[in-house]
Amino acid sequence: MNTDALQSQLESYFKWFHRHPELSNDEHETTARIREILTGAGVEILNIPLKTGLVARIRGARGSSAPAESKAESHSSPPDGPVVALRSDIDALPVTEISCLDYASEQSGVMHACGHDFHITALLGTALLLQAEKENLGGTIKLIFQPAEEGGGGAQQVLDTGVLDDTAEIYGLHTAAENKAGVIAVSPGPSHAAVGAFRILLRGVGGHAAYPHLCKDPIVAGAQIINAAQTIISRNTSPFDQAVLSFTHTEAGSNWNVIPPEALLEGTTRAFSVEKLTGLNEQLKHIAVHTGEVNGIAVEYEWHMNTISTNNDPALTAFVSETAKAMGYRVQPRLPGMGGEDFALYQQRIPGVFWTIGVGSPQALHHPGFIADTAALSAASRLMAALGKEALRRLGAIIL
Ligand code: NI
Repeated sequence: MNTDALQSQLESYFKWFHRHPELSNDEHETTARIREILTGAGVEILNIPLKTGLVARIRGARGSSAPAESKAESHSSPPDGPVVALRSDIDALPVTEISCLDYASEQSGVMHACGHDFHITALLGTALLLQAEKENLGGTIKLIFQPAEEGGGGAQQVLDTGVLDDTAEIYGLHTAAENKAGVIAVSPGPSHAAVGAFRILLRGVGGHAAYPHLCKDPIVAGAQIINAAQTIISRNTSPFDQAVLSFTHTEAGSNWNVIPPEALLEGTTRAFSVEKLTGLNEQLKHIAVHTGEVNGIAVEYEWHMNTISTNNDPALTAFVSETAKAMGYRVQPRLPGMGGEDFALYQQRIPGVFWTIGVGSPQALHHPGFIADTAALSAASRLMAALGKEALRRLGAIIL
């Protein structure tokens, strides 16, 4: 397929996915459409227990030399040759799109504001490219269309199926709003932070707003916690450490003359190590519990880690960078950001690289005005296909 034909095919796929965003773990139509496109291209889809999302497989000359197996085979039948996984996420966000695109979201309050529609489409393009030259592949490619990246546990769901147990290397891509269309940005080491989510429930005594001395006011205590917590980063974290603490959700009361009995605070902590993240949450818990105590308020503090930080393998990062440069891409380093990415969970088990491709958006990721420049679609597909093919070639050489 020539570049123009691939590009126009991908643009039409992309517009469909952009029009039909679905939230984490609810990506049923999205999964059906991906399945339809892959099946139409003759790509095998593995029979694994995922509610949404799917994993497809392309076995090359070495990968298909095993005896013929039934169509219903599971991933547990060992493929020949090395296995390389390529990953896209597929879920959207609870964001109301403000663009005037003729293919804007048709789902009220839901939008592909993180570019996962771009990732799906790019990986479909990769599937088409690799399927067309499967005879030349020195092993097996697994294409992961992962559900629920936005905090819904999607990477863990895929790992729990065991579908990646035989995988030697993994590559994932993300759109970069700030870079021009087609520019590749990648660096070794951590690129995305470890992410914590906390929830603080304050239980006081409600009553008449005219008689606050007869109440235990959870709103005042909550405000003190929010203010005191600002010192965790500004006074207790080294300026050379990267860390973030943000309150993102507060809830208390329902009218103007009643002091409510309870208040809720939620938010996120971010750092580049599990130790640092745990430390931030211990400090926040300390402040919350003791501020509550001073105010006569019982405090329940809960937190969990959404994901660890990503960690790009240095040798494989050089491989991505060199492959892209050899194909004529502009490649630049990527500064780490405090966003989270559950691709990190794959990298904990499998060496891999999470690289980005510029889509020149007027607004940042997660903004209701985020727009991905579709001009970069076939470029993303081609690089991902090359990474899969060249990684198999290299791994095959090592095995031999
Ligand atoms: Ni994303």
